Amino acid sequence: MFSSSRCLKNVTSIADLHALARRKVPRNFIDYFEAGSYAEQTLAANRTALDDIHFRQRVLAGANDRELTTTLLGQPVAMPLALAPIGMMGMAFRDGEIEACRAAHAAGIPFTLSTMSICSIEDVAAAVTKPFWFQLYIMKDKGFIRALIQRAKAARCSALVLTVDLQVLGQRHRDIKNGLTVPPEARLSTITQIATKPEWALSVLGGKRKTFGNLAGHIAGADGIVSLSKWTAEQFDQALSWQDVEWVQSQWQGPLILKGIADVEDARIAAKSGASAIVVSNHGGRQLDGAPGAITQLPRIADAVRSDIEILFDSGIRSGQDVMRALALGAHGCLLGRAPLFGLCAAGGAGVTKALDIIRKELDVTMALTGVKRVADIDRRALAD
Ligand SMILES: Cc1cc2nc3c(=O)[nH]c(=O)nc-3n(C[C@H](O)[C@H](O)[C@H](O)COP(=O)(O)O)c2cc1C
Repeated sequence: MFSSSRCLKNVTSIADLHALARRKVPRNFIDYFEAGSYAEQTLAANRTALDDIHFRQRVLAGANDRELTTTLLGQPVAMPLALAPIGMMGMAFRDGEIEACRAAHAAGIPFTLSTMSICSIEDVAAAVTKPFWFQLYIMKDKGFIRALIQRAKAARCSALVLTVDLQVLGQRHRDIKNGLTVPPEARLSTITQIATKPEWALSVLGGKRKTFGNLAGHIAGADGIVSLSKWTAEQFDQALSWQDVEWVQSQWQGPLILKGIADVEDARIAAKSGASAIVVSNHGGRQLDGAPGAITQLPRIADAVRSDIEILFDSGIRSGQDVMRALALGAHGCLLGRAPLFGLCAAGGAGVTKALDIIRKELDVTMALTGVKRVADIDRRALAD
């Protein structure tokens, strides 16, 4: 059965989950999940830059009693991780956002619900017992954004993640060629793809929602069939500026995370903006193609602002070793994007749990082999010269 986690038996890495995801989910959605923008140079650079960072092996350091617990935004977490916001998780697996949120909470880490989710804020809030984070995209209709922030407050979301690097959509060639729409448009190519994945079709297409749960009925054009790129171009506010960050804070009045900082000057402004944290990120290589691997920006951003603001990192993390690299270079924690997403595609919540389990164990062993016992003690000394 599609929902079975039996397929996870021989899974030992995120790469295994990625291979399973490709088998389970129709091509147009896998393309959407995997793709980077344009020539995908930055998508590739995110990985190669992480691979280029090497550890310093330490021995006889008494590596017992290791502790992965830490805090993010002052809240205790079982490991220095949170799930990154991912649009259309509900197209990876039926009620994908709820499945992923439950798995994250069971693993003791925060889940971030995307503005562009299939399940709505209220759907997720009704299905889980702990607060989650909500990610906000700013659109031109400020009345709608004000209402969305109020909905996140009413749902007891514990942090607002304001994404600042996607007011203009970086083109993803595959999405255009596939004619990506929500709900999946009944084009011949889409029908063929879905026909090859009957388990997925039965599960996802039988679900309650097949469109953007937070937007349908609230914002024009969100409940019909529409191309993602056209819709984004029409709705998103390209004039977004630091003044809007102040406005969002005045509406939200809670912990605010600015996601998509990749430059030291922007990080300095963010540190003075009153936000609680930044996410050093290039949106997983989906926006500015030609930008360097995100991890290359982390050390100088950390040197400039780590004492003033909490730093989270994403873009390219596929293992616990990658998490260790980011922590060693100054991040307090990491957001995981495609790694748990591939797990969700493979086996729903059980697949997300598997992804988190793999990464937790890899981080733990890497700490042991570099002679570090606590997350707070991870720094550049863990890296080879
Ligand atoms: C399929 C997909 C959808 C995404 N949707 C959103 C989104 O709705 N909001 C957002 O802030 N970031 C979004 N992101 C970016 C992620 O939050 C995160 O920055 C990125 O995935 C990290 O890179 P990684 O996938 O290499 O870990 C998306 C990423 C992917 C792969």
